[in-house]
Amino acid sequence: MDAPFHLSASRIRRSYRIGRRTVEVLRDINLDIAHGETVFLVGASGAGKTTLLYTLAGLEKPEAGSVTFEGEVLYSQGDKAECLRRNRRIGFVFQGYFLLPELTAFENVLLPSHIHRIPDATARARAENALERVGLADRMQHLPAELSGGEQQRVAIARALINEPSLLFADEPTGNLDSRTGATIIELLLTLVREQRRTMVVVTHDPNLAQRGDRRLEIRDGQIVP
Ligand SMILES: Nc1ncnc2c1ncn2[C@@H]1O[C@H](COP(=O)(O)OP(=O)(O)O)[C@@H](O)[C@H]1O
Ligand SMILES: [Mg+2]
Repeated sequence: MDAPFHLSASRIRRSYRIGRRTVEVLRDINLDIAHGETVFLVGASGAGKTTLLYTLAGLEKPEAGSVTFEGEVLYSQGDKAECLRRNRRIGFVFQGYFLLPELTAFENVLLPSHIHRIPDATARARAENALERVGLADRMQHLPAELSGGEQQRVAIARALINEPSLLFADEPTGNLDSRTGATIIELLLTLVREQRRTMVVVTHDPNLAQRGDRRLEIRDGQIVP
């Protein structure tokens, strides 16, 4: 049977030490996200949005609390099998694109598929398909520096989708874009997740964009505002 929620977090705590000071970034985070839900996460700069996304995506272990994804507790085994499964089932669009500058758009998109020993021809077909879906069929051989901000963000989205994840995170995907380009990027993300009934968590500063999801969560003082 399916787990009741696609993604759950319970009593998550995370702090950073800077010199002698300890900053409590996540103090007590609890949330449940249903299959196919689109959730927008808002909060002031420095509120812990990126930290929370990394924690939920299995990229950064919390000091306390648990994350359950597709019925399994993340960070519980810490083995390679868990990493592989997570890499296949979870896509991540990082803040500021994070494209490798010396690789073409096509090669950047192909990267996550290398981890899974997907046959070369299959992976290449998928990368082509992903770039077509984000509207970059004629930009595959461009380097990131030869692309506009909006186009780089599309490459980052195609890369996050190459392994056909069931859950997609996007960290301020419109942060560096003008408002019109940003709006088209959000529309693209919404289309791509609805097509495949994926779950999505998007961080944004823009209160208008935040209304486009099923639900809006705000993080303040290390907690989700009730
Ligand atoms: N690696 C780190 N070392 C020390 N402090 C960090 C680190 N990463 C984040 N922080 C601090 O944690 C707080 C939350 O950061 P972040 O999650 O990036 O916030 P947001 O994404 O909401 O802007 C900030 O005060 C930031 O300075
Ligand atoms: Mg951030």
